[in-house]
Amino acid sequence: MLKNQKVIVLGGSSGMGLATARLLATEGAHVVIASRSQEKRDAALRVIGGRSEAIPLDFSQEDAVRRFFDSMGAFDHLVLMGAGLPAWGILSEIQSAALENAFHTKFWGYFLCAKYGAPLIRQSGSILFTIGGAARSAIPGTAGVAAVNGAIMCMAMTLAKELAPIRVNILSPGLVDTPAYNWMSTEEKDAFFKQMGGNLPVGRVGQPEEIAQSALYLITNAYTTGAILDVDGGGRLH
Ligand SMILES: NC(=O)c1ccc[n+]([C@@H]2O[C@H](COP(=O)([O-])OP(=O)(O)OC[C@H]3O[C@@H](n4cnc5c(N)ncnc54)[C@H](OP(=O)(O)O)[C@@H]3O)[C@@H](O)[C@H]2O)c1
Repeated sequence: MLKNQKVIVLGGSSGMGLATARLLATEGAHVVIASRSQEKRDAALRVIGGRSEAIPLDFSQEDAVRRFFDSMGAFDHLVLMGAGLPAWGILSEIQSAALENAFHTKFWGYFLCAKYGAPLIRQSGSILFTIGGAARSAIPGTAGVAAVNGAIMCMAMTLAKELAPIRVNILSPGLVDTPAYNWMSTEEKDAFFKQMGGNLPVGRVGQPEEIAQSALYLITNAYTTGAILDVDGGGRLH
């Protein structure tokens, strides 16, 4: 489906980004992943296979993002799946510096990649922004995360008109079992996923491969732009 197409996956070395990069490679794409840790990138390349490349990038650094895209040439799709620093907590507990860092990493990174990447994207191509269910679920304790992801969502919807005919879509995952939760012990993680997943209509948390399937749809469906796709096991149905 993506034969002879070049796709850049920011954050393609772990979790949903890695699963997406792998699926796109099996669909024939020339996949370029970018992230900070060489160890993760090397491991990811072994999983992705195909005609894939890995390039070091901290997407929160403007000069680095500019240089990255300067070296890239024309390409077809930009997939933004990198993570930022978290800013959890109720309003009285959110540290201003933590929220500033959260914006400076995820929002800023996605903005910079869109800004410097868009001019290189072929007219038939697309940008995919990854937000998170918190952006539209109004769950107490998630205002900071909601703000960062909501800002990305609003920017992306506007870009769907501004950058047309390049398509711009938004993928909104719910809770997905990725290495983002590896700061917990296996027992803690299992208990957390069991409890949170049990509250969902589907009865479990998501898998990165399920996000990858959705990303493939948004990237390849030429009649889909400005869409927000919730892939959250029904998490928004409170
Ligand atoms: N997992 C969930 O439950 C969940 C739910 C809703 C939304 N999301 C969102 O989905 C996206 C993917 O999450 P995930 O769970 O798949 O995360 P993950 O497994 O932790 O992977 C994050 C990826 O982002 C890269 N990254 C982090 N900071 C970066 C930076 N400054 N510059 C470049 N690359 C950077 C990481 O590589 P390096 O560390 O090597 O840079 C890694 O490849 C994130 O935007 C997250 O907010 C996740």
